[in-house]
Amino acid sequence: MSADLAREAARRRTFAIISHPDAGKTTLTENLLLAGGAIRAAGAVRARGEQRRTRSDWMKIERERGISVSASVMTFEFGDILVNLLDTPGHEDFSEDTYRTLTAADSAVMVLDAAKGIEPQTLKLFEVCRLRDIPIITFINKMDREAQDPLELLDEISSKLALDPAPVFWPQGSGQRFKGMTDLRTGEFVVFERPVPGINGAITHERVDLSGNAIASVLDADEQAEMEASAELVQGGYPAFDVASYREGHMTPVFFGSALRQFGVRELLQGLADYAPSPRPQSATVKDSAATIEAERAEVTGFVFKIQANMDPNHRDRVAMVRLASGRFQRGMRLKTASGRQIGVHNPMMFVGQDRGLTDEAWAGDVIGIPNHGVLRVGDSLSESGTVRFSGIPNFAPEILRRCYVRDPMKAKHLRKALQGLSEEGVTQLFLPVIGSDLIVGAVGPLQFDVLVERIGAEYGLDVAFEPCPYNGVRWIAADSATDMENFAERNKMGMAVDIDDAPVFLAKNSWEIGYVAEKFPKIRFTATRERTL
Ligand code: G4P
Repeated sequence: MSADLAREAARRRTFAIISHPDAGKTTLTENLLLAGGAIRAAGAVRARGEQRRTRSDWMKIERERGISVSASVMTFEFGDILVNLLDTPGHEDFSEDTYRTLTAADSAVMVLDAAKGIEPQTLKLFEVCRLRDIPIITFINKMDREAQDPLELLDEISSKLALDPAPVFWPQGSGQRFKGMTDLRTGEFVVFERPVPGINGAITHERVDLSGNAIASVLDADEQAEMEASAELVQGGYPAFDVASYREGHMTPVFFGSALRQFGVRELLQGLADYAPSPRPQSATVKDSAATIEAERAEVTGFVFKIQANMDPNHRDRVAMVRLASGRFQRGMRLKTASGRQIGVHNPMMFVGQDRGLTDEAWAGDVIGIPNHGVLRVGDSLSESGTVRFSGIPNFAPEILRRCYVRDPMKAKHLRKALQGLSEEGVTQLFLPVIGSDLIVGAVGPLQFDVLVERIGAEYGLDVAFEPCPYNGVRWIAADSATDMENFAERNKMGMAVDIDDAPVFLAKNSWEIGYVAEKFPKIRFTATRERTL
């Protein structure tokens, strides 16, 4: 049994893709699925998205705005390896969701547009990875277009991210002159061929030995000389790839390719199989003492990193996405939250390729969906014993606050319930000022309010609107002594509120006020994140 646990954990790779919008995440996802045999034709990810969107009302927004709001997971096999690809929403308004998804990932693939290098969103997401020590593989995409000098791209990685780039492949040319890339480990040249238009199944690219005669049919004499010189230069100028350094988060192996032309995608998958970590030990407490949960632990444990609503509009279901951290999960098992709630998991779902279906078993590293009616919340820990509590699902202080009201005042109570429910999903946050009965909703980006209006209308039958409120900043507050807290609350009554877990917060008129009160009340700790451990 423990041998099974070790074997199953060792073959799993659970990762997410981080990138700036338009760098090619969707295209890469699709082509990873294609290379892994999970779908048969390119174009399917989008097609499926379209089909799903037309089934759900509130997702109209997604279609109209051309963004994908809901994250999910896709599972497929690649040789002996089982890949769990966590799909993170692309639009920057939904970055909090992305952050949470990263808590469920053991590693990440950072996609860069070869013409643009590191962009603002790449940097933001990278910082979250670094905070959580998530190792990163770099994929430099769109080599079939005019690209920046690859050496400059490596320098950018090392200067902007303070990460050592270790090229595993090296490209020859870009755009119209893109010929392929050398595998620096073997000296083979992977030949780039543009797929024939109209053929959209998986394709493989030929490999030619750089030192043999056949290379002459791929590269002319100048190109050969250039390739040899630049390969020598990078090999001399950059440290060789070191798996341990990558796993510790100091080094990133660099792959090149074109997701759109299916070039370099199989190599990237192989890189994930060879180098990316299997399910990592997770820090937690067991019976209130600090502990590390290893993937081989016999007890089934996991945590909820996301609540997905409306996967099936006919059921108005809520599905808790649970990342398993250890054990062998079996359908029908009873699991407990750390706060003692017990659930029988009779309909666990897994998301294999394009289908979601019931699963009979799952292992550390897998993500299962547990349908429930609001019992499970983001940050909940689950275990057989109920004594395990994982740390670290962060809530971020929202950047935009609005007051929500319902047009029919008789429905105020319903509105509070609706906002509470949506807040438990972790999509937006609800704050209740201590004085008055306002409902203040916080979001990371303005688009989320549009989504909320639609969803509250569709799911709760309430006609609601958002309006500006006097607050423009929020911080969680804490102090070592109750007297200090009371004193602060007394002197700042108008700004005092609680979040849905009753944790005290200070609602500020602006960021200047946050600085001002922090200076005036040095015994109060103001924090922009709160770790939810339930
Ligand atoms: P995202 O999820 O990161 O936002 O990016 P997405 O995959 O949607 O790609 C953004 C655009 O970049 C798309 O073009 C896509 O076709 C293109 N693209 C992605 N990978 C490559 C690549 O390797 N080479 C080239 N040349 N283009 C690539 P679009 O015109 O915005 O969308 P579409 O109309 O083609 O779907």
